[in-house]
Amino acid sequence: MKREHFSSRLGFILVTAACAIGLGNIWRFPYITGKYGGASFVILYLVFLVALGLPIAVMEFAVGRASQRSTALSLNLLEPKGSKWHWFKYATISGSYLLMMFYTVISGWLLYYFVEMAKGTFQGLTADQVAGEFTHLLGNPAAMILFTAAIILISFGICAMGVQKGVERVSKVMMSMLLFLLIVLAVRAVTLPNSQTGLRYYLYPDFGIMFEIGLSECVFAAMGQAFFTLSIGIGVLSVFGSRIDKSHSLTGNALYMGLLDTLVALLAGLIIFPACFSFGVEPDSGPNLLFITLPNIFNVMGGGRFWGSLFFLFMVFAALSTVIAVIENIITFVMDLTDCSRKKSVAINFVLLLILSLPCIFGFNLWSGLQPLGEGSTILDLEDFILSNNLLPLGSLVFLLFCTCRYGWGWDNFYKETCIGKGLPYPRFARKYVTYVLPVILLVIFVSGYLSFFK
Ligand code: ALA
Repeated sequence: MKREHFSSRLGFILVTAACAIGLGNIWRFPYITGKYGGASFVILYLVFLVALGLPIAVMEFAVGRASQRSTALSLNLLEPKGSKWHWFKYATISGSYLLMMFYTVISGWLLYYFVEMAKGTFQGLTADQVAGEFTHLLGNPAAMILFTAAIILISFGICAMGVQKGVERVSKVMMSMLLFLLIVLAVRAVTLPNSQTGLRYYLYPDFGIMFEIGLSECVFAAMGQAFFTLSIGIGVLSVFGSRIDKSHSLTGNALYMGLLDTLVALLAGLIIFPACFSFGVEPDSGPNLLFITLPNIFNVMGGGRFWGSLFFLFMVFAALSTVIAVIENIITFVMDLTDCSRKKSVAINFVLLLILSLPCIFGFNLWSGLQPLGEGSTILDLEDFILSNNLLPLGSLVFLLFCTCRYGWGWDNFYKETCIGKGLPYPRFARKYVTYVLPVILLVIFVSGYLSFFK
């Protein structure tokens, strides 16, 4: 059967950007930026994005485009005969599932908050009562299952329509609406009283804070963010590479994706920081930022119900577009592996993901006694840890070695693939850097991050 491609380059760029833009940009980025020192952390993160994330993103695209397959078969097709690189497929598919096992649950919370905000549920509540609403949701597995299932159902429904008619068309619409909402919300936030304090904190670099916190911890967080936001290392970008033609260079495509992704993250900071400082709340309040801090802010803001609903709608778009992209990878993976139809793959994975999302949901209520990473931790924390601190960086390392090492696909094949098509070529001078320096950087940061995590 002929492989379905994107209808245009714009479609490809918007779908990959839709995959990259998500909770990572709008929630994780502002709160870890708040935690690790504002603008100085942003600079560190941008360095990692360019020096570490994008070169590997191009490798993932190249593996997909050269093989015209997802990681279910791409390494089998490209590896030297007799080697075992293809075993890596099990890590990539596990990574995609793991991401969805908690990402769909958080997306469900966002959908719930959008509905409740629009209904006016939070209006007139005290700060404690707003916090109580979140606790109430976490203690209610039925509500969580309902909203998670809605997200999973919508996403599989869209993927079932196919690449061009489903994933590409819907992602284009959602990305356009998301950018529009982002600009409206950013303008509103920077015109709030006292927003300058937040802007200064966000935009003025103070490297002293980083040294106070510990440079290695900041570096690990910045690196983790670069991996998470691009979703590299688990084959999701590969699958999109396998669905484009060879008319444009992969480096140019990756740059556009990175630019859009960064633009959204930076603009998200322009919403969160002025809003927090304007209402005197800490921007580094972790997961609570979205579900407790911001609803409280909307409660005391003029027109808060309207702005709050708009904000959560925007969050739902961002999260849903990522879920659709990762689910598309899962569906294509199973189609490539078993040669089954799209419909069959959708049906099997829909049921599977519904079941796999349950541990994360139960971790907040029925199984809350399980605290896998120490006092107060949840199953979500464990899933996030396995993915963000292990599968993403190590998976990226495998892609890197596969594309540079002569026992893998090798630099020459990789480079040849990146030279095809109009636009920016992969810089040839980068060869020594990606072959000898980047793997060492990856390993050092990975190990030291692990050590500081367990300390
Ligand atoms: N890339 C996705 C995000 O940033 C996982 O949310």
